[in-house]
Amino acid sequence: MADLDAPGRLIVGKYELVSPAGEGGMAMVWKALVRGAGSFQKLVAIKRIQAGKNADPSFIKMFEEEARVGSQLQHPNVVQIMDFGRDEEGGYYLVMEWVEGLDMFQWVRSYHRAMKVTPWPLVAAIGIEVLRGLSAAHDRTTDTGEPAPIIHRDVSPSNILLGTNGTAKLTDFGLARAMDRASMTRPNVIKGKLAYCAPELITGAKANARTDIFGLGVVIWEALAQKRLFTGKNDLEVLLAVRKGAIPSLTAEREDIPAALDTVIQQSLAANPEERYQTAKEMARALASVLRSTTEHTDAEPLGASVRAARARLGKEPATSAGGTAAPTAGAPNLAAPQPDIDRGMEEPEKSSEDLSMSDVEVVEVELRQKKPVDRVPTQPLPIEPAVRGLWEGDDKSVALPLTRKKDE
Ligand SMILES: Nc1ncnc2c1ncn2[C@@H]1O[C@H](COP(=O)(O)OP(=O)(O)OP(=O)(O)O)[C@@H](O)[C@H]1O
Ligand SMILES: [Mg+2]
Repeated sequence: MADLDAPGRLIVGKYELVSPAGEGGMAMVWKALVRGAGSFQKLVAIKRIQAGKNADPSFIKMFEEEARVGSQLQHPNVVQIMDFGRDEEGGYYLVMEWVEGLDMFQWVRSYHRAMKVTPWPLVAAIGIEVLRGLSAAHDRTTDTGEPAPIIHRDVSPSNILLGTNGTAKLTDFGLARAMDRASMTRPNVIKGKLAYCAPELITGAKANARTDIFGLGVVIWEALAQKRLFTGKNDLEVLLAVRKGAIPSLTAEREDIPAALDTVIQQSLAANPEERYQTAKEMARALASVLRSTTEHTDAEPLGASVRAARARLGKEPATSAGGTAAPTAGAPNLAAPQPDIDRGMEEPEKSSEDLSMSDVEVVEVELRQKKPVDRVPTQPLPIEPAVRGLWEGDDKSVALPLTRKKDE
């Protein structure tokens, strides 16, 4: 059982849990070691699903299916699934390649905390890498050449992993579908990254390539603006904001953003899916053409350096000159020493117990029809509780952040 997990625990005699890496709505991710013959050992990530013994069999079936399909997806921009099974106590484990680095939420937070703007060329470059992974999944075919697309369904900052070696990989392909099923049977378990959900999903459309593109558009918009795009004091309000679809111009948020980049992001976020990029490839090409306007390097080397610098800012690895972070002074807390990522859950509105799952979209739709027709939604921004303010906006309330003017390192 996942409840018994602790550093040092051996799962099926093979995977040794090292330390917790993070926790999502339905699972906990561990850094772990797989041991082989002699002194062979390799780091892996192990996702432990908190499904419990009484989990709905249809969830288990769907989860197994998603793991099976996901394992067939092999691409440098997709986190590889390596193994899936049940431990001695019947607990599920999903073994994935380990990405040493940060997720995109943490990367953006590190800039925000340091009162720096995220370098837009790197954000665009990450977008291109993620789109390559999406494209491979969307264009998947069976062995006999039949289209068999895999839709991600949960493109969000925490599912984009950035390696210290300068890679960007998308993880948790398709798992959202199984997780939604699980949350139906566990009302207090949160799914609901509603703020990344395309508006047509609210009205019952099926997830497809264009809904993944919308999700990535939100991620990029937020990484550049360093605040949430669709906010509200509860999920209903977030859904209303998504449905209203007002996308502020990024050039108004930050003066260094090229108008062409804003245009690309606006197109990825078009309310009408027909007006969006139709394929991940199309959007990747558009971002690549924006990148041609800058002389900034955006290959693995600068991205890796920025991830290492971000880790140092977050106290996850010793500061280096590349990190640009000063060494700790005598008597000051040693921020360079590895520290547990304790504050993350507190900042994420999607972890609130009031959040709804994607499967609750229909319920909300009914509520909308019954109580709050969309045409009566106030046009003014709704007051936002501190707990659900922007991901990065409410991060450090003691500093007013001149994010629009500060030049990056
Ligand atoms: N393969 C991996 N290598 C390194 N770290 C990982 C890996 N997979 C996940 N993580 C870390 O663990 C965190 C938790 O992952 P998890 O997928 O459980 O939650 P989440 O992405 O925040 O939410 P959700 O439940 O919606 O997926 C991630 O955000 C990331 O920081
Ligand atoms: Mg995840």
